[in-house]
Amino acid sequence: MSQKEKIKGLIDLRVKAKQGGGEKRIESQHAKGKLTARERIELLLDEGSFEEFDMFVTHRCHDFGLEKDQFLGDGVVTGYGSIDGRLVYLYAIDFTVLGGSLSETMSQKICKVMDTAMKVGAPVIGLNDSGGARIQEGVQALAGFSEIFERNILASGVIPQISAIFGPCAGGSVYSPALTDFILMSKENSYMFLTGPKVVKTVTGESVTDAELGGAMVHASKSGVTHFVADTEQEGIQLIRKLLSFMPSNNLEEAPLVVCADQIDRLEDSLNEIIPDSPSTPYDVKDVIHAIVDNNEFMEVHRHFAANLVVGFARFNGQSVGIVANQPKYFAGVLDINASRKGARFVRFCDCFNIPIVTLVDVPGFLPGTGQEYGGVIVHGAKFLFAYGEATVPKVTVTLRKSYGGAHCVMSSKQLRGDINYAWPTAEIAVMGASGATEVLYGRQLKGIENPEEKAAFVAEKEKEYTDKFANPYVAAKYGFIDDVIEPRNTRFRVIRALQSLSTKKQTLPPKKHGNIPL
Ligand code: HXC
Repeated sequence: MSQKEKIKGLIDLRVKAKQGGGEKRIESQHAKGKLTARERIELLLDEGSFEEFDMFVTHRCHDFGLEKDQFLGDGVVTGYGSIDGRLVYLYAIDFTVLGGSLSETMSQKICKVMDTAMKVGAPVIGLNDSGGARIQEGVQALAGFSEIFERNILASGVIPQISAIFGPCAGGSVYSPALTDFILMSKENSYMFLTGPKVVKTVTGESVTDAELGGAMVHASKSGVTHFVADTEQEGIQLIRKLLSFMPSNNLEEAPLVVCADQIDRLEDSLNEIIPDSPSTPYDVKDVIHAIVDNNEFMEVHRHFAANLVVGFARFNGQSVGIVANQPKYFAGVLDINASRKGARFVRFCDCFNIPIVTLVDVPGFLPGTGQEYGGVIVHGAKFLFAYGEATVPKVTVTLRKSYGGAHCVMSSKQLRGDINYAWPTAEIAVMGASGATEVLYGRQLKGIENPEEKAAFVAEKEKEYTDKFANPYVAAKYGFIDDVIEPRNTRFRVIRALQSLSTKKQTLPPKKHGNIPL
């Protein structure tokens, strides 16, 4: 065969590989409103940057007649490319090949990408659309999943790992995304569950649809499994590109610095009026976030889950930061099980990847009650506490209003190695609110007062006494727990200066294998 013929042979093979499961299945994928693996990659990466690995790999299964069903590349497209000029590795499951079900060889392809990404220190992005383990392969497919899981675990905290779910994600397929840093789901067509509706019906008798069991909004708002929901796959892919811009390529690097056109000492007069006179009147902490960060741009993470805590990425003077803020607009910004899980996970991500944390505090405490105690709020709250106390990245805290009790300690307090702790003049830093404190301190006297008017007057007097003494930032400032009381409108500048001063911060943990965070 001549060289020319051989080159033509290669080109023909490439064309065939790019067909995946064939024209009919591509049409069926499109008919469901889904993109193919290759279309997704094209949208995700910078134009023309994709370099593919293992296009000629095929599966090795000889059971159930599968030996006749061969597809070049098997059910996954893998390789590397760039996003905003930065190297990323990726794999995109191809549903047109046997429903994207995972074979031994697919696992090998995915592992090759992950191993290479680890060697060079680049993020891995997985685009999932799969029916789980390839049933015909049995134990080889299970071993294939375990190989991937092990790499997810070893890569955790070394390179960022992002998973998108753009179709079914069933059985073993869910655990690799769950081991990664961020999950994004498209609103239509995507769902994640360990066992599908049919098995659920058999085992528990429950009748549920795919979407009710594991749709995007279910995982965004109820389970907290997914961090982002996108209306379309196209929007989801743009979100991944944006998310990546806030993080470094690996744990030894800093996130990319962006040129900042926003004045660093911009005064935001609205902040001098944002705190309502009544301590129980809510306001939106996102207004504070938008007002102080570069160009008012904030990328919220976990928006639909535990709305009483807001977390996400923004920039100060071009530097990427993680923002954690109590949200007085929801449940008065109280900390509960879900908010603690959400906050802990986010703080730990930032700490893994050298992203400073800016904490905005307005928290009345932990949510009381049997629901929370039975659900283990002690352990979940301790996770958040642990995450903050362990984090060695620069930590800047601004207390806006309430900072009570255990929740005060959690929210990047000085003693949890908060580096710079500011407070607004409206801050109230105390063990608890005035009415709770009065009840505890004067319970015995109150029992002795029969006349309701006399009782109310006594309570009002004692509450005022407590408020005058503790509902301010100056007691904490007197002890140096607050470094300065700042004018709200100048918060942006003070945070930027604080972050600049901490840019060379070095702090380590005592030598150990790893801590034992209360999971
Ligand atoms: C082999 C599979 C498959 C699988 C789908 N296919 N899942 N082949 N193994 N796991 C094949 C189908 O037979 C079909 O082939 C093609 O892919 C497309 O699937 P359809 O069912 O026609 O598509 P759709 O209607 O969109 O439904 C998709 C689906 C459904 C919801 C994913 O296929 C399904 O429920 N699959 C099984 C899901 C499951 O139970 N997975 C768990 C596996 S066990 P043809 O040739 O007919 O078009 C597991 C445990 C691992 O993962 C644990 C590790 C820790």
